Amino acid sequence: MPLLTTRHLLDAAAAGSYGVGAFNVADLVQTQAVLDAARATRSPVIIETLAGGHPYSSDEFFWTMLLRAIDTYDDIPVALHLDHGPDFDTCARAVDAGFTSVMIDGSLDSAGRPAAFEDNVAVTARVVAYARERGVSVEGELGTIGGSKDGASHAQIVLADPDQAAEFVAATGVDALAVAIGTSHGAYKFTSPPDGSVLHMDLIERIAAKVPGVHLVMHGSSGLPADLRETINAHGGRLPESWGVPDEEKGRAAGLGIRKINQGMDHYMAFTAGLRVALAEDPMSVDPAVYLGEAREWSQRLLEERMALFGQAGRAEDVLTHVPRV
Ligand code: 13P
Repeated sequence: MPLLTTRHLLDAAAAGSYGVGAFNVADLVQTQAVLDAARATRSPVIIETLAGGHPYSSDEFFWTMLLRAIDTYDDIPVALHLDHGPDFDTCARAVDAGFTSVMIDGSLDSAGRPAAFEDNVAVTARVVAYARERGVSVEGELGTIGGSKDGASHAQIVLADPDQAAEFVAATGVDALAVAIGTSHGAYKFTSPPDGSVLHMDLIERIAAKVPGVHLVMHGSSGLPADLRETINAHGGRLPESWGVPDEEKGRAAGLGIRKINQGMDHYMAFTAGLRVALAEDPMSVDPAVYLGEAREWSQRLLEERMALFGQAGRAEDVLTHVPRV
């Protein structure tokens, strides 16, 4: 099956009232874990990656390999999505490389501060014009999502405004909208379990009501499982205690109107735990085939659980028969 757009996958998800995980990958071993989990659970899936967010020497090399890998899974519906494209040129590069979906993140200016609404609209509309002509879906962002991957810097959180969401969608024509509802990116999120003063789940329903033709996206959805942190720390890691989005909130999000659920850190943690355990169990090991294989299996197990939680498990066939909106 050819790659599908996120518009196609998310239209089907809206019709079936379920969520679709968009799983970040930084290498091909992780990519296979996502694809194998999707195949095992019969799930449509979105694979997403950040420009430069991998150990290979160029985006073009990694992106070519990603497309070749996805090609070998022709029995499951897959979209390939650029996560947080920082500017027009990066999004255009991903479109030209064969991605079926891109995110333009115009929510921050070049200094990392919340961008002016008009500037966000302008760059997003430009990406939509380029992508639409080439049959590629576009996600924009309204408000800013907090956090960082290394815990060293923390972006300011600006919650999305429902009225502005309607204006943004009308002015840009995006297919999907990332809405800041209090979540944070990365492995270091909240210092205590988040409650309603942190996660504004009510905003989802209010925004969904204002932009019915667009699919809402929740970023920073990882839960940061304590058992994985403990395993990592018992095998040489030093992750501080931190809380993410609880499982029940992730499950609830789809019911409230979230269609695309972005997750990176949870399966990155599973991968790291598997890797550390494999290396600790065989201190003489120098064979990546063994320890990376173990990491892939740990990652796949967690991904299968998430696919069941988000509701996409068992929906692969449903997507294939769904006719997307144009
Ligand atoms: P986490 O950092 O919570 O895994 O979220 C990933 C994400 O939102 C990517 O855009």
